[in-house]
Amino acid sequence: MIILGIDTSCDDTSAGVVEGGRHVLSNVVQSQVRVHHPHGGVVPELASREHLRNIMPVVQEALSRAKVRMADLDGIAVTVGPGLVGSLLVGLYYAKGLAYVHDIPMVAVNHLEGHILSIFLEDTPPFPFVALTVSGGHTSLYHVKGYGRYIQMGQTLDDAAGEAFDKVSKILGLGYPGGVPIENASHDGLKDRVKFPRAYLSGESLDFSFSGLKTAVSLYIKKWHDKQVEAGDITLPDIAASFQEAVIDVLVRKALKAGAKSGAKSIVIAGGVACNKRLRMRLQEAASEKGFALYYPRPEYCTDNGAMIAAAGYHRVSSGEKADLSVDVRSKFPIKDLKPM
Ligand code: KG4
Ligand code: ZN
Repeated sequence: MIILGIDTSCDDTSAGVVEGGRHVLSNVVQSQVRVHHPHGGVVPELASREHLRNIMPVVQEALSRAKVRMADLDGIAVTVGPGLVGSLLVGLYYAKGLAYVHDIPMVAVNHLEGHILSIFLEDTPPFPFVALTVSGGHTSLYHVKGYGRYIQMGQTLDDAAGEAFDKVSKILGLGYPGGVPIENASHDGLKDRVKFPRAYLSGESLDFSFSGLKTAVSLYIKKWHDKQVEAGDITLPDIAASFQEAVIDVLVRKALKAGAKSGAKSIVIAGGVACNKRLRMRLQEAASEKGFALYYPRPEYCTDNGAMIAAAGYHRVSSGEKADLSVDVRSKFPIKDLKPM
C-alpha cells in the first residue's frame, strides 16, 4: 500500500511517499527558515504564503523521487492539526483537491501521532513503549500501547523545549531556529559553569515547565552583558552548555520516570529536539542503566516531515478509515481526541 503524506503544520512544507507504513520512497522538505530567520521566529502569515508557493512543487518532487504516479497511490494522509491554522489549511485543501480529482481515499492525521510513529520509518520498537515528543511546539510523554492507542502521561505547562532553545538562542544572538546553534556553541562550553534552575515540578508529576528556565537564562544574559556576573570569564558557550544541560536533565529524568510508571521496556524520542546529540547520549546512558531500550529516528525524520504523516496515515487507510471532504483543520488537537483505529 503506497501513501502520500503531506504536512504543512508550521513552517516546513513537506511531502513523503511511504510504502507499507515504513518503507520511505521519498521525503521532501522545503524549509522556510530563510523567510522567518530575520524575524527571529515563525511569522504565521508569511508561513501560509510560503506554503502556497511550495505545496505543488514539493508534492510533485515527492512523487517523482518515489517514481510513482497519482494513480499508484492507495491513500493521501494529511495533517489537520495541531498547528498554525493558515498553514494547515494550505496542506489540507491541496490534499482534498488531489483526493477528489483522482478519487483516492484521504485520511486526516494528527501531527503528534506522526511524530510518535516516525520511529517506524526505520525501526520496530515493541509495544508498549513510552514516547517523548520534543519539538518547537510540543513537549509530551505518551504511553503508546499500539497503533492509535496513546495515553498522554505528561505535557509542558508553558513553553515547549524547542521553543526554549529558540528563545535563548535569540537572546544570545545565535539566530533562529536555535537548537543547532545552541548545541554547536555548547561543544566549547562547560555545562556546570552556570547553575540554571530545573523545574522537576512536584512529586510524581510528568509535566514539564521551561518558562522559568528561559527567564532565568534571559536575566543572567542581561547581567552577563552588563558585566555584573562573577569573575568575568564566563563565555557564551558556557551559558549555552549550562542551559542545554538544564533542559536535558529534566527531559531525561521525566522520560525514565514515565518508563518506570508505564511498565514499558522501551523509550522512543521524536520531534526536532530529538536531533540533539547530547540529549540522545544522556538518554542512552540513563536508559541502559535502568534497563530500557532507547529508539530514536534519524534527524530527517525527527523534524517535521511528510513521511511520518504517511506512516501514521497508512494504519488509518488500512483500517478502512476515510475522511469526509468537509473535514476542517484544528489548531488544537489533543491526542485523546484521536479516532480509535
Ligand atoms: O519537530 P520540529 O521540526 O517542528 C515542530 O513540530 O515544532 O521541531 C523544531 C524544533 C525547533 O525549536 C528547533 O530549535 C529544535 O526543534 N531543534 C533542536 C535541534 N534541532 C532542532 N533543539 C535542540 N537541539 C537540536 N540539535
Ligand atoms: Zn512537529
